[in-house]
Amino acid sequence: MSLHKSRYHEVAAEIQLQIEQRIWLPGDRIPSIRKMSQIQHISPMTVLKAYELLESEGWVYAKIRSGYFVSAHLNRLAIPKQTTPQMINRAIKINEHVFDVLKSCKRPDIVPFGSAFPDPSLFPLRQLGLALAKTIKTMPVQSAVTELPPGSIALRRAIAKRYIRDGIDVSIDDIVITSGAMESLGLSLMAVTKPGDTVAIESPAFYGVLQTVERLQLKAVEVATDPQLGMSVDALMAVVERHDIKACWLMSKFQNPLGALMSEENKLAIRDILVEKKIPLLEDDVYSELYFSEQKPKPIKAYDEQGLVLHCSSFSKCLAPGFRVGWVVAGRYAKQVEQLQLMTTLSAAVPNQLALAQFVLHGNYDVHLRKLRRLLAGRQQQMQNAIELYFPSETKITRPEGGYFLWLELPAHINTANLLQVLLDEHNISIAPGTLFASDNKYQNCMRINCSYAWTDKTKRALITLARCIH
Ligand SMILES: Cc1ncc(COP(=O)(O)O)c(C=O)c1O
Repeated sequence: MSLHKSRYHEVAAEIQLQIEQRIWLPGDRIPSIRKMSQIQHISPMTVLKAYELLESEGWVYAKIRSGYFVSAHLNRLAIPKQTTPQMINRAIKINEHVFDVLKSCKRPDIVPFGSAFPDPSLFPLRQLGLALAKTIKTMPVQSAVTELPPGSIALRRAIAKRYIRDGIDVSIDDIVITSGAMESLGLSLMAVTKPGDTVAIESPAFYGVLQTVERLQLKAVEVATDPQLGMSVDALMAVVERHDIKACWLMSKFQNPLGALMSEENKLAIRDILVEKKIPLLEDDVYSELYFSEQKPKPIKAYDEQGLVLHCSSFSKCLAPGFRVGWVVAGRYAKQVEQLQLMTTLSAAVPNQLALAQFVLHGNYDVHLRKLRRLLAGRQQQMQNAIELYFPSETKITRPEGGYFLWLELPAHINTANLLQVLLDEHNISIAPGTLFASDNKYQNCMRINCSYAWTDKTKRALITLARCIH
């Protein structure tokens, strides 16, 4: 009896996975009971029990004399609309909750929906360890000096080769290696502004942007941003007309937290606005390798004829979290960035740079990336489907084509900062409340969810708990 019971659970789980992977789409008829019993070599009664279980959980519904169909509500939730910040010039004050959320990510007992870090088990840590051990054994004693800023020539060569392969003309001398993208963005912003200047940023924006703007005593204008298309071209145009903008900081691909991907048309339009006003662009492209499409989307840097774009990225999200190695293609600003690095952190860790150069040039980097993209796309789909199923119907959700974040807009009365407290205190679950991504308690009813982790029973239970708390 118990064997029989587990078999129908297995069949139900298999079909659920197929629905989550969008093999069966909402409205599709799944195989008839007779057909499925032939395919699976099980009795029609076992299939019927599996289908009834799926029906009770809302994955399918039965139509009399027609069969079982995938529930239409699996894509019932709307996409959030373009944001409407005030677009005024002001000092930025970072929300203190950022530090609580970052701290909660360190707790091993937490289900880290609020984390910005990708699931560490997604990375070739053993091979990276071997590359690091080999580097340390063989590295010339002078390396600590020869690899001072702008950084390891081997790594800069490996990075330049990848840009050239993507059709972006970059020279080794344009690149400065940094301690992660956070440093490349900070140094770049320092290179093109002075305290009191105003920067145009997205709304919502990655909290690292807000922290850097505050730390450098700059002001910011938060620009309306579309969850699908990124920073609004019209809004940016209005902002540069109204304010004396000294730099613009944005993500054209898989924006954090919205996941937006700019169209080629918008990338060109943004470039034209900034060229016209001679405003440098800090393009944060840390998720550039995490695209789900066949073709890698281009950054705005690919269209930069004037050398106004400082393109910042790192290995933190795609290969080696914790190695703290990033870079900026700074072009005409490279010397300034290099000098600022010498004055602040001196240099990125040398063994890490050399080991990554080895791995990128001679390891299976592209094989790893293909697998990583496939896994992330699948995990995102599973998370989206579960949210569609369990969350209130007024929830709005993004559908990014890369990266590993979902942005959710919940019913207006829900305060996600309060929700975070309950989730941390009572359920060991974290979320990133919307208020982390803007300066003045905007996005109180929004949250960012990390979907890079494997879809296990524990994850599913945590998501259902989260949905229950929201309900
Ligand atoms: C949008 C964005 N930019 C930059 C960073 C920082 O990257 P790194 O870890 O390489 O410093 C992050 C990390 O979360 C990020 O999400």
